[in-house]
Amino acid sequence: MYYPQEIVDQVTEANDIVDVIGTNVALTRRGSNYVGLCPFHSEKTPSFSVNRNMQIFKCFGCGKAGSVITFLCDYENLTFQEAVKELADRAGIKLPEEDEESAQARAEKSIREKLLEVNKEAATHYFKELRGERGRIAMSYLSNRGLTRETINSFGLGFAPSGSGLYEQLKENGCSDDILRESGLFSFSEKGVYERFRDRVIFPIMDMRGKVIAFGGRTMKKDEKIPKYLNSPETKAFIKGRNLYGYNIAKHTKAGYILLCEGYMDTIALHQAGFDNAVASLGTALTPDQAALIRRITDQVVITYDQDGAGRNAALRAIPILKDKGIMTKIVEMTPYKDPDEFIKNLGADEYRKRVEEAKESFFFETESLHNGIDETNVEQKTKFDHEIARKIAKIDDELERANYINAVSVKYGIDKKALERAVNKYGVEEDDLRLAQKTRERAREQQKNAIKPEDGQLIVEKLLVSMLANEKGFMEAAGKVLVPDDISDETCRRLYEMIFNLVTEGKAIEPAKIVNRFDGAEKQAFTAEILEPSLYRDKYGEDELKAAFKDIVLRIVSDSLDRRMALAAAGNDAQTLMELAARKNNPEEVLQILEGSL
Ligand code: UTP
Ligand code: MN
Repeated sequence: MYYPQEIVDQVTEANDIVDVIGTNVALTRRGSNYVGLCPFHSEKTPSFSVNRNMQIFKCFGCGKAGSVITFLCDYENLTFQEAVKELADRAGIKLPEEDEESAQARAEKSIREKLLEVNKEAATHYFKELRGERGRIAMSYLSNRGLTRETINSFGLGFAPSGSGLYEQLKENGCSDDILRESGLFSFSEKGVYERFRDRVIFPIMDMRGKVIAFGGRTMKKDEKIPKYLNSPETKAFIKGRNLYGYNIAKHTKAGYILLCEGYMDTIALHQAGFDNAVASLGTALTPDQAALIRRITDQVVITYDQDGAGRNAALRAIPILKDKGIMTKIVEMTPYKDPDEFIKNLGADEYRKRVEEAKESFFFETESLHNGIDETNVEQKTKFDHEIARKIAKIDDELERANYINAVSVKYGIDKKALERAVNKYGVEEDDLRLAQKTRERAREQQKNAIKPEDGQLIVEKLLVSMLANEKGFMEAAGKVLVPDDISDETCRRLYEMIFNLVTEGKAIEPAKIVNRFDGAEKQAFTAEILEPSLYRDKYGEDELKAAFKDIVLRIVSDSLDRRMALAAAGNDAQTLMELAARKNNPEEVLQILEGSL
């Protein structure tokens, strides 16, 4: 780890977890905790909890947990170091070696961080080229497409001439071939190194913090044979489907909804026309991850995909993905134009805004596409259509909403209302059965997760032990008299045990957030945060059962540990040790007496 422990502690202390999470997630106070809707999975009732005293968060739904640093890593997709840096900035703490990085610090940087540096330099390079002599044609191309200087600047647009000298420049600045290969900006062959983007207008793709993670390049030629756009391949800094073009700006919108479009130019044209809420999925199908990003901002999306068949199909696929995250969707009609860019260029922003206001509810967009191509006079086709409509309405949870759709649809498509109601009810029963079956499955799975199974019993018992040691006064002192760290088999539990032991011995407070930060990786941090949270055992045992449970747990751990050591001794034919251990195993009373004496 690159920052010293004291700095990480200082940064953690200076950033109250409730404040930091509270600026991203709406939290309400409940007792000593703050609760809200989990930003890491979709849910309708809050199971995401932030504890101010312990300075840790935990989601009881999806299991994500950790410190303020863990939160930022997951929420903004940052590395540990990046999160520390951001929190230090937030609290006005100056980090060491910020200006002049030590050689070691540079070497220890993650590949992702190095790629971000390469991208930043490349973006600057392309930016300058667009504004220089060689960029004249590209600049007039963009002006001809209606973009103002201000827009071109705020999206950081650039130009890659053929043979721009980017490779040489990056090498000169100390980038290795390894990292340049990973950047996706070049192709390496036996004949030499080629720039991926040649004679193209450059669109930097940014993550939510505005860091350049990839590029798109548009040809200015009308040649059908070459691809219109080239994009960076996936790299360690750019995973397709995990971000949205324009999100870094749109996340600040006050519009109350997100405008979802297809392309670079659409996004930029929309922003220029005053829609600061436009984002693009960049020509690929919308992913659940992208929908989750949108859900952080709003639960209302207006889709403004291309007016052609492909765009319509993409919209039909996006609707359920958005719905699954609790997002309501509408669809904009842009006829006779193909996409928002063309529409606005021809009819202007005000006309476009009207179209947004008239956008069609996704339900009717879906039913209309079902109705498309149906011959109304063909009874068989019409009946099949009516059944599909009934099945769709049956999926709606809210009874009044169902009734409203029944009314609307029966008028719109001339379906007998009473018959439609009955069909909806019939399908509704099937839906309920499905839902019930799913709930039962989920509950069974849940129970299995909580039950102590023989094979993983040891880990659960060790987690319970450490959780109690971290939260119950006097327990550590007692355990310390009968256990040594090696009695604990799980590595993380053992490390936690040692940390708690040292803190208690030195008479220091146990600060869960700081302990969590000692572990690398989101998974480990969630694991440790879960253990340090007292609900782990308090949900299981009542106040009066605690001491008894604790004694059972310690005994079980001693016994497991003796089993392991006996197996070792047996394998090494160490009869003497084997007998000693066996004697101890047969006398748990001794352990029990010591425990009782000090509890
Ligand atoms: P479109 O073909 O709708 O492009 O593709 P556009 O945004 O309207 O582009 P202009 O207006 O002609 O410049 C939508 C998106 O699909 C991706 C790009 O992200 C583009 O913005 N795409 C398209 C590619 O990646 N490669 C292509 O060859 C074409
Ligand atoms: Mn276009």
